Amino acid sequence: MKSETTLIGGAMVMLALSVSALVILPYLELHDVEPTPGLKPYTSAQLRGRQVYISNGCVYCHTQQPRTKEFAAADFARGWGRATVAGDYAYDTPPQLGDMRTGPDLMNIGVRQPSEQWNLGHLYEPRAYVPGSIMPAFPYMFEVKSKADQDDVVVTLPPGYTPANQVVVARPEAIDLVKYLLSLNRSFPAIAPAATATAPATPVPAKP
Ligand code: HEC
Repeated sequence: MKSETTLIGGAMVMLALSVSALVILPYLELHDVEPTPGLKPYTSAQLRGRQVYISNGCVYCHTQQPRTKEFAAADFARGWGRATVAGDYAYDTPPQLGDMRTGPDLMNIGVRQPSEQWNLGHLYEPRAYVPGSIMPAFPYMFEVKSKADQDDVVVTLPPGYTPANQVVVARPEAIDLVKYLLSLNRSFPAIAPAATATAPATPVPAKP
């Protein structure tokens, strides 16, 4: 009986400790983090695109968390941007951190590859842009038709990739997804620049 009480008591203590360390402390530390100055809230189209990103499993191959120079110099050398801070994810619930890098980190893809046409074409057929790419194509986000309608967003692909006598048109989910990708931009500083109030007052020229 005594050993059972010790076992149950021990299990309860372990549970309480792990809930405190993994749930309560992180909550206290992060629940009221302010957005990093410069970070814009998503538009409704970008939010729809984020949902397309989630439902197509982009997170299985792409992270959104460049690390510090000291910790991972390669992240910086590859041009993935500065290390992110909690405030960079203020509008991301849940953040798409990812834990596998089969493809590059995408936290700053909007800066690195700002072309809507490139991103649309790359989603339609990655190998048209990066020979030997192992990224899957997402052809169901596009429509191949004989003639574009008035409001269609036609994708101009590299020579040889558009089916003969057809046009490739982006469906709304591709357009929203690319709007989301282009919004991924953490090129502003992680820490707010010093408040202007503390800057020295502009010198007033002395009267002659
Ligand atoms: C099976 C893994 C895999 C999945 C799933 C995947 N990708 Fe990729 N992605 C890659 C690889 C590998 C590359 C690098 C080669 C290339 O550019 O095609 C890449 C490259 C990219 C790039 C260009 C990055 C750069 O720095 O040039 C973008 C943008 C991108 N992927 C977006 C997406 C989106 C959006 C999704 C989901 C709809 C997605 N990927 C799903 C593997 C993947």
